[in-house]
Amino acid sequence: MPTASFAPSTRIVVFTGAGVSAESGLATFRGVGGLWADFDPVTLATPEAFAREPKRVWDWYASRYVGVRDSEPNAAHRAIARLEASFPSLLVVTQNIDRMHQRSGSRRVLELHGNIWTARCNACGREVDMASLIDLTDPTADSPRCGCGGRMRPSVVWFGERLPMGVFEEAAEAASDCRLLLVVGTSATVYPAAGLIELAAQNGAFVVEVNREATPLSHLADRSYRDLAGDVLPRLVTRIERRLAEDREAQLRDLFGDEP
Ligand code: OAD
Repeated sequence: MPTASFAPSTRIVVFTGAGVSAESGLATFRGVGGLWADFDPVTLATPEAFAREPKRVWDWYASRYVGVRDSEPNAAHRAIARLEASFPSLLVVTQNIDRMHQRSGSRRVLELHGNIWTARCNACGREVDMASLIDLTDPTADSPRCGCGGRMRPSVVWFGERLPMGVFEEAAEAASDCRLLLVVGTSATVYPAAGLIELAAQNGAFVVEVNREATPLSHLADRSYRDLAGDVLPRLVTRIERRLAEDREAQLRDLFGDEP
């Protein structure tokens, strides 16, 4: 079994799902209180649903946007951002559309499923800030339209759509090549995203899972923490930071010995 050893050059990938934002007050998709317990994804998160009922789909995403906008990153997001200070090559790969990682200071973030902060025209592709549409939209009116006549949609990935060009490829390359994969708050059921865990494990990464519950890919984890991300991550990051500092201290002692 691989063991974890740390140096600032250690390649780390943090792979996150809705559970990392749960303690910010944002609902997860699956599990107790999950969004998909109330809605069938096929009726809301597909291009077909948008073509059939644009207003219903738009309104659902508009209300989620407002929820995200009015929420704050939590201790788990902040701990992940802090870890980047010790490991400059650290990459966050997220399935989340809430931009909480960026808001908490993470600089290297790949968004596999797009984001809810922007909208784009489904005809000409023009992108605008979601805020401008929400502020201008009369809630009783039809879903907003672009100047070209197309309908505006959230810049998220729906079921049956391709992931943004090149993003999954970059994530797969990083997962295949990392020493430590931290998997936080994902049910590991939606592909191709969940395949990143398999890729990392196959290529010898040390896999650490943080999730309240077991998932279908928990067996690939070298270590599982069955607890809240907001509790586990700050402690884990502090422990890693302490270990790095001790190693640095030991190297200096080695180098200079006790001689004056
Ligand atoms: P899910 O809702 O499927 O899974 C959330 C996971 O987080 C579950 O396994 C929970 O046990 C765990 N969890 C909940 N609260 C937690 C906490 N405070 N700390 C730690 N773990 C916690 O979310 P995702 O795996 O992100 O895709 O879902 C994947 C994709 O399915 C989403 O990106 C979305 C959805 O349909 C699209 O919309 C394309």
